Amino acid sequence: MYYPDELVEEVRMKNDIVEVISGYVKLQKKGSSHFGLCPFHNEKSPSFSVSQGRQMYYCFGCGAGGNVFTFIMEYENFSFPEAVKHLAQRAGVTLPEAEYNEEARRKESRRAKLLEVNKEAAKYFFYQLRGKNGQAGYQYLKKRKLSEETIHRFGLGFSNMAGDDLTRYLKSKGYEDKLVQEAGLASYDEKYGLHDKFWNRVMFPIQDINGKVIGFGGRVMGDGKPKYLNSPETMIFDKSRNLYGLNFARTAKAGHIILCEGYMDVIAMHQAGFSQAVASLGTSFTAGQANLLGRYTKEVILAYDSDGAGVGAALRAIGILKEAGLTGKVLNLEPYKDPDEFMKNLGQEAFMERIRQAENSFFFELRMLQRDFDLRDPESKTKFHREIARKLCSFTEEVERENYIEAVAEKYHIGFENLRKLVFTYAAQTGMASSAVRPKSGVRKKSGPEENVKKTQRLLLTWLVEEPAIYGKIKKYISPEDFTGDLYKKIAVKFFEDLEAGAFNPAAIISLFTEEEEQREAAGVFNTKIRQPGTRAEQEKALHDILVAVKRNSLAYASSQPGTDILALNRVIEGKKALEELSKTHISLD
Ligand code: UTP
Ligand code: MN
Repeated sequence: MYYPDELVEEVRMKNDIVEVISGYVKLQKKGSSHFGLCPFHNEKSPSFSVSQGRQMYYCFGCGAGGNVFTFIMEYENFSFPEAVKHLAQRAGVTLPEAEYNEEARRKESRRAKLLEVNKEAAKYFFYQLRGKNGQAGYQYLKKRKLSEETIHRFGLGFSNMAGDDLTRYLKSKGYEDKLVQEAGLASYDEKYGLHDKFWNRVMFPIQDINGKVIGFGGRVMGDGKPKYLNSPETMIFDKSRNLYGLNFARTAKAGHIILCEGYMDVIAMHQAGFSQAVASLGTSFTAGQANLLGRYTKEVILAYDSDGAGVGAALRAIGILKEAGLTGKVLNLEPYKDPDEFMKNLGQEAFMERIRQAENSFFFELRMLQRDFDLRDPESKTKFHREIARKLCSFTEEVERENYIEAVAEKYHIGFENLRKLVFTYAAQTGMASSAVRPKSGVRKKSGPEENVKKTQRLLLTWLVEEPAIYGKIKKYISPEDFTGDLYKKIAVKFFEDLEAGAFNPAAIISLFTEEEEQREAAGVFNTKIRQPGTRAEQEKALHDILVAVKRNSLAYASSQPGTDILALNRVIEGKKALEELSKTHISLD
């Protein structure tokens, strides 16, 4: 924590959330909440709600939510301390110099230093591009049809012929060699001493979502190898959790994000007005990147190269997007190789049309699959149909699966009932999808035991939010110790404390977390509606099942911890007793 909790809480209380958000979003009061158009995703009817009572906001459309700090962090791209500072100023609260512990301060200042030296390098490259030495680079970018404005917007630059001028420049600015090396801007060898990593290349600074330079890509101006040289991963440069262009794309509000392969593709697309384009960073698309995209959109359109490698990469990306619960579509760039070439040749209008025609990723997969089969040969054709059926099993939601079976049957001229039977045969064999017992909700499912455990813990917290009165009845059996996930445990500790004191203060709990991602997740706990329609008895049973599941997991967890000491052993024994009793106890909701 950067500031003392009490102070953070004071700042929060002095900034009424409705007042603050009204400065950004037009809100209208409806019942106990205020509603408006969500500033974090593109929408036409308001699903963004702000509760004055709880001092929290939540969007039913995109799931954004939190307290007044979260809002400022998300809207202004501020870190937690920055948001605190900003709101302290707004309310006239004086803050002390930030309080860090030693370790945090060292790390934070190292990160800050790395960002600083990267920024300085970016400025240097940018400046070089305009100078005498940078002529070749400038001409190269012009040849690639980039406008002055685009070059500026992306902060493109140039690294000189000389092998150590950046290093010398940074030294003259007072940066120590070690830092420059750690930033991946220079390396050391016996023969040449400290020398620049990048030379004689056009430079692409890579920015994080907040526009901070975290690394570089450098392109040769001809056919040399490697075509692009990239900064290594550093303390501030995690290639699997950042995307090129996302600092702009996150506010593009096109209703989707376009994912392409190259830096130049992103730049060409932004120049043509498609500022929703992003690219991965010289490595293949990752789950971390998919989750990151999920914060800003539900639909990702792939604009990968149309060659074999591009298709392979697209197929992998589709799987990753699906895993993350995002809808994937695939853009056809034929007859061109990549978006950059397409744009140069056919232009913006034609590209827009391709976006409209983007293919559902499942059909794209089938089309690619089909290439391995000879449909004139009955044997091969049958195999193809089996493959299709197997793939159809991956839709776990019944309605969706039926819709796909219907669409596929029509498209590939297969009898609907035949295909359906085939799908169920596979489903039965593999135990994947079955006809009627799937969960009915359309909400995407993450699965796996860990997810389930997390889910029950979250549900229990949500129950407590909605029915604080049950706290008295369950505290005998459940303690914050039973929450095994770090985030939920932290919430539970504070929440149980509050409940014990008869106070309910979710907005304050959210301030316990300093990362936007964690705040979001914490806010989710307080905004999930768990009340399924059902009789009282059914609801009580649901709650009971959750309690037992949480307790059981906690026990399993405690027993699995190595080096069990007396205290832990005691906990296991006590826990067993509590679980037994709990299993037999009826917890009423009255
Ligand atoms: P491409 O070879 O498709 O390059 O690589 P590009 O982006 O279309 O660039 P131009 O148009 O030829 O200038 C796609 C991406 O793969 C990474 C880079 O991120 C690049 O943008 N890459 C490629 C590398 O990191 N190193 C390489 O040597 C090549
Ligand atoms: Mn290209």
